[in-house]
Amino acid sequence: MDERNRRENPFIPSFGELPYSLAGRRDETHHISRAFEASGRDPYLFTLLTGARGTGKTALLSYAAQEAEANGWIAVSTFAVPGMLEMLYESACDKAAHIVDISEGAHLTGITAGPVGASWEHPVGEQASWHTRMSRLVSKLSERGTGVLFTLDEVDPELDEVIMLVSSCQIFVREGLRVALYIAGLPRATSQLISHQSVSFLRRAMRFRLGSVADYDAELALEKTILAAGKTIDADALAYAAKATGGYPFMIQLVGYRIWEWGEEHDGLTADDARRGVATAQREFDDRILAPSFYDLSNMDRAFLRAMLEDDGPSTLSDIAQRLGRGNSYAAQYKRRLLDQGVIEEGYDKGLSFALPGMREFISAQG
Ligand SMILES: Nc1ncnc2c1ncn2[C@@H]1O[C@H](COP(=O)(O)OP(=O)(O)O)[C@@H](O)[C@H]1O
Ligand SMILES: [Mg+2]
Repeated sequence: MDERNRRENPFIPSFGELPYSLAGRRDETHHISRAFEASGRDPYLFTLLTGARGTGKTALLSYAAQEAEANGWIAVSTFAVPGMLEMLYESACDKAAHIVDISEGAHLTGITAGPVGASWEHPVGEQASWHTRMSRLVSKLSERGTGVLFTLDEVDPELDEVIMLVSSCQIFVREGLRVALYIAGLPRATSQLISHQSVSFLRRAMRFRLGSVADYDAELALEKTILAAGKTIDADALAYAAKATGGYPFMIQLVGYRIWEWGEEHDGLTADDARRGVATAQREFDDRILAPSFYDLSNMDRAFLRAMLEDDGPSTLSDIAQRLGRGNSYAAQYKRRLLDQGVIEEGYDKGLSFALPGMREFISAQG
């Protein structure tokens, strides 16, 4: 096949992209779509997404923004960074310009996000506060039946502007305005956020805890993506590839991408392409995700993870403490740290397991 006929690789092994096919996530996408189709208030208009890196938090935020816009909402998105409130406001003004007259608020500059608890109406010089300006804009849009979705990625509960955004949304809701708020972050960041006293209303927000998807769902997503992009894949190759992803969303993209690459020259992907693609993807996953995650940790963090290897399934904290020769409360500090970093997960039964696929094998191989 010459260059002109070469089909474009449909997999995206990077962060923050909405994949062609979302594996699993049926409940999540169902609730999101329904929330923005509904004309009234829906609990899923306020949602927190948590999960380790690469589980698809950003992808679902993009999905929410897409669904919101498809239903006539305005969606404005940001990461938790200083200056985020002004960026949200400017972006909302741009997107609202064709719906409402925003002339009185469009050219304001500077950030007036005061400390939490400051008077909302407090003007700085000529300039109304962020809350006041945003409130005017959201009210005008609400009068036209247009809602505003704020999406906030990589939430940092230490940032005042994050707390301010949440508090503002809380007030907008109380005023009956049409707003939605989607916040994504690592487990520790989101749990710290909801324990912050000035945003207690977030405790009633809906939560999506994202993890791995079933092999079956990984298989379906791989197949759909391949077929839609104009190739086919043998059944055994597909099953092998799906299993190798461990259902970890980022790995689905990585495995799909490498298999496609190995099979670039033909339209039917084979078991051989799958074997080579998986091997490449695994090496890359080790280098790009597992090694940096592991070597960024302290010696004690790593000792904790090594102590988990003795169990075939989830580990209990007391077993680990014993293996480390330490008390439970000492081990619990390290458990917290590792949960914060998204390296381990805690089940409802408190069992601890590795959050990243292949982490167990990777650590065993480090000796
Ligand atoms: N449900 C899914 N099925 C398949 N691929 C997914 C899914 N969710 C996310 N991805 C892909 O995985 C990668 C990581 O997703 P991302 O949303 O950036 O993760 P996070 O924000 O949790 O770190 C991206 O390439 C994305 O396209
Ligand atoms: Mg992300």
